[in-house]
Amino acid sequence: MSSQPFTVVITGAASGIGAAISQQLMAVPGKNLILLDRQADTLAELAATAPPGVVVETLAIDLTNTEQLTSGLSPLLADNSIHELVISHGIADENQLDQCEIWDKVLLTNLTSVQRLLAVLEPRLADGASVVIVSSILGLIGKKANSAYCASKHGLLGLVKATALDLASRRIRVNAVLPSWVDTPMLRREVRRQADLTGIAEADMLRRIKKRIPLRSMVEANDVAHAIQFLLSAQSRMITAQSLVIDGGDGCGL
Ligand SMILES: NC(=O)c1ccc[n+]([C@@H]2O[C@H](COP(=O)([O-])OP(=O)(O)OC[C@H]3O[C@@H](n4cnc5c(N)ncnc54)[C@H](O)[C@@H]3O)[C@@H](O)[C@H]2O)c1
Repeated sequence: MSSQPFTVVITGAASGIGAAISQQLMAVPGKNLILLDRQADTLAELAATAPPGVVVETLAIDLTNTEQLTSGLSPLLADNSIHELVISHGIADENQLDQCEIWDKVLLTNLTSVQRLLAVLEPRLADGASVVIVSSILGLIGKKANSAYCASKHGLLGLVKATALDLASRRIRVNAVLPSWVDTPMLRREVRRQADLTGIAEADMLRRIKKRIPLRSMVEANDVAHAIQFLLSAQSRMITAQSLVIDGGDGCGL
């Protein structure tokens, strides 16, 4: 049995789904957490909620900057391996086809930075480690004014499948979760924006979203985090290269 601490790295940890999985894993005894995000203050507040005895370290960085990532993570990891990796950071800027700056920013943040992160961390992953990447239902379907976001989230699924094959000989598993509307700050920003554009009240917009979901409830960040916990755990030991949709049945038909 290894004497190394059981180390978990989570990106996008300051908000939404990343914060929810961080909180859930803090409650599991024996895990050391390294939380990454660009929001330093929120990260520090989250780390301060850790129960006594749980080691939580934070690294406030822009994950699109590979140099910052490499130099920032090395001292935190020291000689330790990573047993679980959750990649949840992302942005959801809308774009028209000719808005190349937005395209570049979204692809860099949501796709390229994930590949860079995996490239930097691959040698540090323990044999048998589990990696979960947060894609989106928009990794399977399209949405108007979202070509960059959709391309980035579709791209993640290819990255997951191929990387799962690359790492399978070390029993490292790589899976994706594909949530639809999740009630997080990202969603609330989008709803506020749509409300401003259409004149429909925010509460009405949320009601409309809820109404079309067969299970009649918004997906919460904790729902996604529970699915991530399952994919991280040994209970899913024969599941790799897969995409798990979490949408309350939204996508299953009319
Ligand atoms: N909320 C939804 O409806 C929804 C649906 C499907 C998929 N997703 C995906 O889930 C993931 C988490 O989204 P969320 O809803 O929790 O959003 P969120 O905005 O609440 O959290 C995203 C986090 O990522 C961080 N981040 C973004 N770019 C970064 C960068 N360059 N460097 C460091 N940190 C960065 C932000 O600071 C933030 O803390 C995203 O990948 C998103 O695309 C969200």
